[in-house]
Order: sequence, then structure tokens, then C-alpha cells
Amino acid sequence: MKAVGLTRYLPINDPESLIDIDLPMPQPEARDLLVRVETISVNPVDTKIRAPKDKLESTPRVLGWDAAGVVESVGSEATLFKPGDAVYYAGEIGRPGSNSQFQLADERLVGRKPRTLDFAQAAALPLTTITAYEALFERLGISADGADRGKSLLIIGAAGGVGSIALQLARLAGLIVIGTVGRIETRRWTASLGLQLTADHGQPLPGQLAALGHPEVDYVLNLNSTDRYWQVTAEVLRPQGKVCSIVENSGPLDQSLYKSKSLTHAWEFMFTRAMFKTADMIEQGRILNRVADWIDQNALKPTLTETLSPINAANLRRAHARLESGTTIGKLALSGWA
Ligand SMILES: NC(=O)c1ccc[n+]([C@@H]2O[C@H](COP(=O)([O-])OP(=O)(O)OC[C@H]3O[C@@H](n4cnc5c(N)ncnc54)[C@H](OP(=O)(O)O)[C@@H]3O)[C@@H](O)[C@H]2O)c1
Repeated sequence: MKAVGLTRYLPINDPESLIDIDLPMPQPEARDLLVRVETISVNPVDTKIRAPKDKLESTPRVLGWDAAGVVESVGSEATLFKPGDAVYYAGEIGRPGSNSQFQLADERLVGRKPRTLDFAQAAALPLTTITAYEALFERLGISADGADRGKSLLIIGAAGGVGSIALQLARLAGLIVIGTVGRIETRRWTASLGLQLTADHGQPLPGQLAALGHPEVDYVLNLNSTDRYWQVTAEVLRPQGKVCSIVENSGPLDQSLYKSKSLTHAWEFMFTRAMFKTADMIEQGRILNRVADWIDQNALKPTLTETLSPINAANLRRAHARLESGTTIGKLALSGWA
């Protein structure tokens, strides 16, 4: 089967940084599905893992943690899907990724593809959606069913892949959402997804929140630098408020800043459940199915903004370069094998 992989970790402008390869067809066992991958999308985790370093892979490493496709065959213990089912999933960080024509995925991490989306729109969703859902409804403990209606949430970095779905999920749950953007294009994009209150993350946030009538917020979802926004989060959170971070910190974080207001800080890492094979890892499949229902009911909009075709090393290098520029809006997908 065709795939795109790497053996060396090189800058993305090096043609060897991602290469076209041919790999043996994987065989599904136990609870695995063998999926024929129609479309993939890219995420910053791909570029972080591919970042230049002195390391050699003896066999090519396949990246990519977002796919939509069709189940080709199933392992002997799989019960949730059958051949021919259209699915979407992010998968596991410790296994070969989705940048291949066929991929194995544990069925507990897989959801049914939203019927109203094409494969590219579907592939744009899983990793960011699971991240946003777990961060809002599990780590921050916000009710997905409206019990926290009227509470306020600040999303730092609202126009990226995670922000584009997080702002919609939070609005669906009845929250007042303020999202930060840095450009006129991202302000327009978030407005098209229903975001009404925006602040500019190039300017100090407290004054802007006060001007919007929300000098303090109940929750912060930080989708950008944990270090950079640590202190301002303590300033703008209401006493007993909660913040969730998804980006690894690069220096020590001063917990004492959060003491007097009794603030709660939570981490979200969407690979945790699969990495530790937690007893509830099937929740990720349930999240994807629940979101597929919301999409099909027109309660959520797709977050895809651009598709490259076909899926090959040259286009994946283009996609990684775009991600590394930090200027993507919503999500970027790749579709079809030449
Ligand atoms: N822990 C997890 O499980 C998990 C899961 C997914 C992602 N992540 C991490 O979360 C981060 C965001 O992921 P993503 O997929 O949403 O990335 P992304 O799509 O690449 O995010 C791009 C967005 O970042 C915004 N941005 C740029 N500078 C900013 C700043 N100073 N402050 C706030 N926002 C800024 C940009 O908005 P403007 O153009 O408007 O400035 C742009 O729209 C990445 O570091 C990723 O690795 C972690």
C-alpha cells in the first residue's frame, strides 16, 4: 500500500523530510478495524513529532492522527463496526498514523462518519473535536446538556483547529464565549462559526474583557502557549474558576498565582485514554458519534477550510509547512491517493 513516512527528522523544506513509500498491508487483530483511508487532516502534533533531531528510524515512521475512510475488514473481537461502514477517528500516538492507504484503528476510538459531511470535512474533525470535548466537558466539568448555561468561557486561540470546534461546542452548551483572534481573517472565520465576542490576543486581554462586559470569566480554555497566558489567566478568572491547558509548558508554572482565588488548573491530552488503555477509552468513540449526530442535526458546522489533493509526500510537506507558519485557519485536509 502507498504511504508517506520518514526515516530522518529534517526541516520541512528538505524533500527527504517526508517521503513516498510502499508498505505491507496491515492485518486487523482483536478489536482493530482495517480502514481504507480516503482523507486525512494535519495537526500541530504531526509537525512537533517530525521536528528536526538527530534520530534515525530503521523502518519508515508514518505520521498523521486524523482520518476518514471505509472499514475494509475487522479483527476477531471487533463488534462495533462492519466492512463497508464509513468512519472517522484520530487513533493512537503510539501506532502508525493515518498517512497511509490502509490503517489499523482500535474500534473503541472510532466514530461513525457524519452522514452530511464529505470525507475531507469528516477527516478534519476527530483529533480537535475529541480535544475540545474532553477539555470542556470532562476536564473543566462544564455540562454538555445546558446546566451551565449563561456561564462565561474565554477561549485563547479561537480560530485554529481546536478553537473552531471548541467555540461551537461551548455555544451549544449555552455558554457565553469570548474567543481571542489575532487577524481580521480569523475574526471573520470565527464569526462565521457563531462567535460574537472577540478579543485580540496581540493586545492585553483584561481591558478588552472588561470592555466586553466580562471583566472576569468562569472558565478559560487555553489553546496556545500555557506559559505565556498563565499569569493573565489568574487575573481574568473569577474566584473558584477553572482553566484547561492543552499545550505543554516550556518552563516552570507558578502555582502560587492560582492560590488566593482557589483556581483549578487541568491538563487535556487527547491521547491519554489510548496511551494508557484506560477502562473508559470507548468514550472517544462515543464522543465522535455524539458529535456526528450534532453535525447531522446542523447544530455544528464543519471546520475544514482547505483541501490538498492527492495524498502524497509533496502535498504533506506543503501542509506541514503551512502548519509550521502558524497561519492556518480552521483545518487543512488532504484527499485521495493518486
Ligand atoms: N493536548 C492535546 O491533546 C492537544 C490536542 C490538539 C492540539 N494541541 C496543541 O494545541 C495547540 C493548538 O492546536 P490547533 O490544532 O488548534 O493549532 P492551529 O490550528 O495550528 O492554531 C492556529 C491558530 O493559533 C492562533 N494563534 C497564533 N498566535 C497566537 C497567540 N499568540 N495567542 C493565541 N492564539 C494564537 C492563530 O490565530 P490568529 O491567526 O488569529 O492569531 C491560528 O488561528 C497546538 O500547540 C497543538 O499541538 C494539543
